[in-house]
Amino acid sequence: MPNSSKRLGLIASATGAALALTACGQGGTDKIAHGKYLVDVIACDGCHTPGALIGKPDASRFLAGSEVGFFIPDAGYFYAPNLTSDEASGLGKWSEDDIVTALRTGKRPDGRVLSPIMPWQSFATLTDEDAHAIAAYLKSLAPISNKAPGPFGAKETPTAPYQGIIFPQAAAPATNPPPAQPTP
Ligand code: HEC
Repeated sequence: MPNSSKRLGLIASATGAALALTACGQGGTDKIAHGKYLVDVIACDGCHTPGALIGKPDASRFLAGSEVGFFIPDAGYFYAPNLTSDEASGLGKWSEDDIVTALRTGKRPDGRVLSPIMPWQSFATLTDEDAHAIAAYLKSLAPISNKAPGPFGAKETPTAPYQGIIFPQAAAPATNPPPAQPTP
């Protein structure tokens, strides 16, 4: 009996040591703090906070969804959605695993694959620990109600502003005015 409880004690302390070794960020608050750190340095807010894409991020609605989208030729118009825990307009109904899957594979719970303008291809190599920390942090955000527009198909008419790429008219030089000559 004393032997087996001694052994149990050893197992418990070995487990404790192992946990402590891998701990950084495993437990509740640490995990959320680690997620906040990653979200800040990856700068998810550069796309997901209202106003960020026009140079005026609204800090009071941090990560609550952009009103300005991206036009991707042939694919459509994509607006970075609300990442707060609001049920109707944010990630309130997504589980931590749903968020991790979307981050690493682009796949939403409804099966749609996110446009790669959301850099999920770059996030594919996030470790389990980091991806779950990000998801836990997002789940911890207070709900803010703000439904981002779209997405809209390439042939649809978007109802909100967007950024796009302008291709030069290289094929029609005759219709362009000649370049201004420097005055001697
Ligand atoms: C370059 C801009 C950009 C950056 C940076 C970015 N995202 Fe996104 N994100 C988007 C866009 C745009 C969408 C919507 C794409 C679509 O609808 O196909 C999106 C979609 C998402 C979704 C799916 C939400 C939904 O309701 O469908 C999640 C979750 C998400 N992003 C999390 C993050 C996190 C976390 C980070 C940082 C680690 C991040 N994003 C960084 C632009 C960005």
